[in-house]
Amino acid sequence: MDKFIIKGPVKLKGKVTISGSKNAALPILFASLLIKDIVEIKNVPNLKDIDIAIKILIKLGVKIERKKSLIINAINILQCNPPSHLIKSIRASIWILSPLLKRTGKVNVSFPGGCSIGDRPIDLHINSLKILGANINVKKNYIKGYIKTNFKGNIICMKNISVGATITTIIAATLASNVTIIENAAKEPEIQDLANFLNTMGANIQGAGTNKIVIEGVKKLKGGVYTIISDRIETGTFLVAAAICKSKILCKNTNPNNLNIVLNKLKKTGAEIEIGKNWCSINMHGKRPKSVNIITGPYPNFPTDMQSQFALLNLISTGISTIKENIFKNRFMYVPELIRMGANIILKKNILKCKGIKSLSGSEVIATDLRASVSLVLAGCIASGITIINNISHIDRGYENIENKLSSLGANIKRIKY
Ligand code: UD1
Repeated sequence: MDKFIIKGPVKLKGKVTISGSKNAALPILFASLLIKDIVEIKNVPNLKDIDIAIKILIKLGVKIERKKSLIINAINILQCNPPSHLIKSIRASIWILSPLLKRTGKVNVSFPGGCSIGDRPIDLHINSLKILGANINVKKNYIKGYIKTNFKGNIICMKNISVGATITTIIAATLASNVTIIENAAKEPEIQDLANFLNTMGANIQGAGTNKIVIEGVKKLKGGVYTIISDRIETGTFLVAAAICKSKILCKNTNPNNLNIVLNKLKKTGAEIEIGKNWCSINMHGKRPKSVNIITGPYPNFPTDMQSQFALLNLISTGISTIKENIFKNRFMYVPELIRMGANIILKKNILKCKGIKSLSGSEVIATDLRASVSLVLAGCIASGITIINNISHIDRGYENIENKLSSLGANIKRIKY
């Protein structure tokens, strides 16, 4: 597996272009299976998770051309049981269920994979599909199911807020007969993007971005062109990189409106934040950040996908802080690695307590999941000496070109290929 060798500490300076959102692109790719026409999707990030999603679609008989944008032709779908080794490699593959049921009438797929960040049940997805009329049987990590003629609209009140299950339900309801109402829906910008995509192609989805989504089923969708939103988590990650390096950078091609709580937390660390229509900048004026308390929660609360980056920020900040993780129980796998680099942190259940120290020391560490990996990369940029990060395959799943982007800002980072 590839490694990163990082030499720190560094100051960052300059502009970085933010890529399209991974978590918006993935559901849109799977939802495009609903469309028996040509769809062009722009701003799709070049990531390993996207490659896998594309491979799954191709195995089903979808024709995909990847140039600057992605041209998807799902006019013919030939298969309903995509290879389990691909399904098991990403969490997003769960979104194959709704379109496959609609297009082929049946599914036979293995459980999805994804980062090991605690239990990741799929009960809410299955429950929604059943309420919309599917017959589903889950056995030995396999999901088998069928629908008779079509999904039938219904009222679904989500027991817990789930991004993934809200997406599964929207995709299933788009071409269902009658109206579907989702209560207690997730409100993430990626869900709004999925609804905007489907509406552009002829769907009738209202209320995405609120906790009540109303979907009036339509007979069919048409082809068209759609541009994916920018990645709010990548933006937040670069802003944190600048904050911990006491630096000044500007993120281009991003929507600061999707990052309110992260920008407010950064302001509390002492950062000067400026925003424009499609950019935002941070300036620490050379000062060490002040620590901030964080509680993760569903949007618009603090995103769990930014938790490890802020843990890193806190551990080199002035002050004492706590971080409480409310979404995924096992999202602190980076803690022993950061302790190896000198961090003064204590983890009890889902609460991380931290007393900030002035600097970290370079060390050899192992990346365990996507967001944990990026925090170790950022840690390497501020630690004195050499940091070696093993097992960086996770990072290629979610950060496009990270070493080139960080190098262009002044980081000293090299990939060693194996
Ligand atoms: C998505 C994102 C992930 C992000 C997360 C929360 C993708 C590919 N992944 O993951 O980056 O961290 O949203 O913002 O977009 N749950 C159940 N039953 C279910 C489904 C979920 O109990 O059927 C629970 C989960 O265990 C978790 C909580 O609901 O505790 C939220 O999970 P969910 O919002 O579904 O996250 P994902 O869609 O997996």
